[in-house]
Amino acid sequence: ATAALAGCGSSGSGNDRPTLGFSQVGAESGWRTANTRSIQESAKTAGINLKFADAQQKQENQIKAIRTFIQQHVDVIAFSPVVESGWDTVLKEAKDAKIPVLLTDRAVDSKDTSLYETFLGSDFVTEGHKAGQWVADQYKGSNETVNIAVLEGTTGSAPAIDRKKGFADIIGTDPKFKIVASQDGDFTRAKGKEVMQAYLASKQRIDVLFAHNDDMALGAIQAIEEAGLKPGKDIKILSIDGVHDALQAEVDGKENYVVECNPLLGPQLMDLVGKVKAGQPIEKRIVTEETTFTPEQAKAALPDRKY
Ligand code: AHR
Repeated sequence: ATAALAGCGSSGSGNDRPTLGFSQVGAESGWRTANTRSIQESAKTAGINLKFADAQQKQENQIKAIRTFIQQHVDVIAFSPVVESGWDTVLKEAKDAKIPVLLTDRAVDSKDTSLYETFLGSDFVTEGHKAGQWVADQYKGSNETVNIAVLEGTTGSAPAIDRKKGFADIIGTDPKFKIVASQDGDFTRAKGKEVMQAYLASKQRIDVLFAHNDDMALGAIQAIEEAGLKPGKDIKILSIDGVHDALQAEVDGKENYVVECNPLLGPQLMDLVGKVKAGQPIEKRIVTEETTFTPEQAKAALPDRKY
């Protein structure tokens, strides 16, 4: 598959409006759709020419899109890297072309941090800690074994690596917590459902399901219902993101806890584009502020939830 490239406005020089080349991961989740909309709308508001490329969750498509942006001499390149590794060569090409690069949402593992200006996004390890802490609190005072199944995000992606680590940091301190299944659900509803069906078919008792994002939890909820079980009751469910459908699932009693990951990065990103274009200094790491939702908090938040 080739990356879809959609431009609006003119490229590079010859226009005072800065041109931003943005390579998006794909459209795998409700979170991602909200993130794309935030970037497109805030570019328009800020008067930034946006060249938007959807990588369809393939690193090769992102590399191709970044090379196209370099050839087009855009003013700034931003991207949300599908996986953490393998970016040094293309980032060096951007640096040699003197085009500043901004990382949004996900990090790269490049040792040479001069290859990018900043990383704007969530602290995924903290999100994993919040999820682990909720599980620990639910079973405080009990000595019984708690079987936990995990639906992991895309293998090699920063949120999958960091959320797994953060969760393990907390539940790993008590031997009563046992991870009985942990597989890649690729951050999608369809894969979350498919992997959950396999977990249920194994007949392993599952007390808690931790999904690295809401969409996989929502797919798993379907699988659990189709297996004749009650999600949220027979199996406690928690996930990360905070999209409308997951908050609704909490209100409906099908999900028990949601850790927020904020997708609305567009306004901050456009502000950073303006600053690097003007040669102003920016912070090397900008962390997004986030909350958590119990079912009661989900009910209160739902009427104003935009995504
Ligand atoms: O990188 C952020 C993660 O990617 C979100 O949790 C998930 O929904 C998305 O696909």
